[in-house]
Amino acid sequence: MNLEKLLGIKYPIIQGGMAHIATSELAAAVSEAGGLGVIGSGGMSAEDLRDNIRDLRAKTKKPFAVNLMMLRPDTDDLVKVILEEDVKILTIGAGSYGKYADIFKEKEIKVIPVIASPVQIKRYEDYNPTAYIAEGMEAGGHIGQMTTITLIPEAVNATDRPIIAAGGIASGREIFAAEILGASGVQIGTGFLFTEECPAHENYKNILLKSTSSKVTVIGNNNVPMRLLKNKMTRDYKNLEKSNSLEELEYFTIGRLRKAVKEGDVVEGSVMTGLDVGRFNEIVPVKEFIERIFREYDEVKNGYKNQG
Ligand SMILES: Cc1cc2nc3c(=O)[nH]c(=O)nc-3n(C[C@H](O)[C@H](O)[C@H](O)COP(=O)(O)O)c2cc1C
Repeated sequence: MNLEKLLGIKYPIIQGGMAHIATSELAAAVSEAGGLGVIGSGGMSAEDLRDNIRDLRAKTKKPFAVNLMMLRPDTDDLVKVILEEDVKILTIGAGSYGKYADIFKEKEIKVIPVIASPVQIKRYEDYNPTAYIAEGMEAGGHIGQMTTITLIPEAVNATDRPIIAAGGIASGREIFAAEILGASGVQIGTGFLFTEECPAHENYKNILLKSTSSKVTVIGNNNVPMRLLKNKMTRDYKNLEKSNSLEELEYFTIGRLRKAVKEGDVVEGSVMTGLDVGRFNEIVPVKEFIERIFREYDEVKNGYKNQG
């Protein structure tokens, strides 16, 4: 894998920029452990973002990124903070960053858009992104239609830029599988929910610890699909889907992730998680998690070479 050199990190792993969860605490721990920590600006005001960037820099000198969700109406304010604070790497979710492509280029900011289909790569190529995160629908949170195993090879064929695999990566085995499919690194979200430095409410972590893939569902298939745990909220949503408009449904989901993550309401809140939730059964420090999966990766890769 060759993401390490490109981003100045020890292990080719990016932590998902999860709204309300990827604070400076989690991101600093990931960067300090040798991955790329990402501050998720979804759910943060511009000033919260500035505080998180400064707090992260007080905790680690290693590279980090900020995740920007482009559909937010206050994106200009967030971009202003990113430029003022001299952030050097961005991951981009939910929408195009075309409006800012020139200024990011001028400031030599490395930009890594998240894509869920190869068609999106065509749209971004002119902006000269550094790499792409190709996220399969196994992932937690908002998702596309393709699986990781179908998306990665297509994405690799669609561009000369590095592809970072996301969605369902739980151990060294999947990291090696992603490499075989042509990926240069991985992004993990769900796995980092099972870490000590993840600031999610203990109710969120406890219910994840008890869950397996059979407890995971997708809502919003007619609108913006989202993967999360089954609970009262998802049942209510599916009932509303039969009669309510898309706007009403969208309104219904607003603030639900915050409710679960901050208030610990795992009944009415959105408990976003990937399909690999059942692969994790303990809460460990970030450093231990990263070192373990790359030890597994080395073991699997060496075993594969020896077989050959
Ligand atoms: C709770 C949660 C919140 C997320 N929020 C965001 C977000 O704000 N922006 C984003 O680009 N991706 C978001 N994601 C997706 C992750 O960044 C990552 O791509 C995904 O979790 C990878 O798949 P995995 O969950 O199977 O590891 C979120 C994922 C989860 C589980």
